Parts: sequence; C-alpha cells; structure tokens
Amino acid sequence: MKVLATRRYPGAAFDQLGDVEISSLELERPRPDVEGVIVSNEPVPLDLLPGLRIVANFGVGYDRIGVAACVERGVVVTNTPGVLDDATADLAFALVLAVRRGLVEGDRLVRAGGWTTSWSEGAISEEVAGSTLGIVGLGRIGSAVARRARGFDLRVLYTQRRRIDTPLGEYRELDTLLAESDVVTLHVPLTTDTDRLIDARRLALMRDGTCLVNTARGEVVDEDALVAELVSGRLQAGLDVFADEPRVPPQLLDLPNVVLTPHLGSATRRAREAMTRLAVDNLLAVERGDPPLTPVARVA
Ligand code: DGY
Repeated sequence: MKVLATRRYPGAAFDQLGDVEISSLELERPRPDVEGVIVSNEPVPLDLLPGLRIVANFGVGYDRIGVAACVERGVVVTNTPGVLDDATADLAFALVLAVRRGLVEGDRLVRAGGWTTSWSEGAISEEVAGSTLGIVGLGRIGSAVARRARGFDLRVLYTQRRRIDTPLGEYRELDTLLAESDVVTLHVPLTTDTDRLIDARRLALMRDGTCLVNTARGEVVDEDALVAELVSGRLQAGLDVFADEPRVPPQLLDLPNVVLTPHLGSATRRAREAMTRLAVDNLLAVERGDPPLTPVARVA
C-alpha cells in the first residue's frame, strides 16, 4: 500500500511501512496511487486522492480531518486513543503547578538576575493542596488528571454530558463548576458542541484568580475573551493549545499570569512512539483487509 506521511513519525514502527513517502498534503496534482495517509490532524484533500482507503491520524483529536467526507467516500479514519493519556494528564498537571506556584516567573526572575532580596520577601502564590479542581470532560485524559489530583489533595469536581457515578470527583453542571473551582482544566474534544464552549459569559463566571488550563483544543475557549481576561489580570492560565497554532496571541507573551507551551500534551517519547505504532498498525490492518484497530467512524 502506498502511504503518504506528512512527516517522519517517531519510533521504529514507522519503518514497517513498506512504501511510504514523506510529503505535505498540499498536493499540486492528483495522486491516485496513494491508498493511505498518516496526518497530525491535518485536512486531507480527498479530491486529489481518489484511491485513498485510510486516513491514520497521529493523535486522538481529529477535528480538522473532515471525517464526514471521508466516511461518505468509504475512507476509514483512525486515531490513537489511550496511548497519550498519561503524557497529556502530566502536562495538564504541570501547568496547574507552574501557574499556581509562579514557576516560570520565578525562573525568569532568577535568570534575569532579579533575585536580590531575602526569600521571605519574594512573591507568594496560591497553594495547590486543598484547592478545588474542576475537570471539564472526565474521559480518559480527564480521569487521569483526576487521579493525579488525589495525590495532591485537591477536591475534584467534574462535568460532562453524561453524569456518572465515580469516586474520581463530584458532578456539577458546567456553569456551577466554573464558579466553584480554583483551577479549571479542559479535556473535551473539539466538536460543534464544544466550539467556544467556554465563552465570555462562562469566563465571567470564574472567580477572580481562577486558573484555566487548556491542553485540549484552543477553539474550545473564546480566545479573544480569554485574552481580555488575562490581560486584565483577573484570571490565570496554563495554555498548551491555541485557536490558530502555531500563532499565539501576542498580548499573552509578556503576561506574568500565563504559562505558555507549544502543544506539548503528547510530547513524550513513549506516547509519541506508541502513537506511531497504533497509526501504523491501523494502516497495516487495512492493507491486509482486516478491520482497523481504532476507527473513529466505521465505513458501511
Ligand atoms: C491529540 O492527540 O489530538 C493531541 O492534540 C496531540 O497531542
């Protein structure tokens, strides 16, 4: 099977693809020879790939791929669930700690030679233990965050469409969760229902000093409204994702109340190599005529 990969994906599994070409999907001519693609949530030009059988997404979120159009043409779409939960939950937690304890600001101060007084005169921050963490989306990654929160003695609230009985946290409606939490962390996929789920009205429900952590998708938050809240200094944030990556709103760059990372959620060796493994296994399964391992939508 001829496969186009938008880059060389990490790990030895990639070498098991017999006929793979590294190429951008901004194709200049039709490629009827291509039967499989590996993408990182990039749009797929279906019109130029008439022989396509499978889109193997390297990642769990597939909001830019155009799944409905793929299904219509009988193209299988797969993703890589499960293997990046720990990595993403760790990063979400790292952002909670970094924002709440002023880690990046402290590092900047030391490097700039600005630490000139006694430790007892330095800036103070809010304690993480004992505060309330609101998890929006208690799926695989949200649950992994909730388990970490236990070890840090946080009180955990969660919200999602389906209320469940779980020892991981107490259920709240979204608006109530936003108003009750000291830290809110987002773990929902980007869909038409979650696009700008956290809009200006909902941001305003958050109490002064609340920290918003986003390792999901930038578009889940109204970015302009969030920037306004952060520029005013009313809220804090740890942001790993943005609406127009890799562009980061320039107003955020100098703010002391924001920690910014470049979409690092799954960026551990173990997670990324496992993501390649799963993407390749999906391609090989379709090549053999077997069902894909982790389809996001089944083709009739
Ligand atoms: C995903 O899997 O969708 C992530 O954004 C990659 O870290």
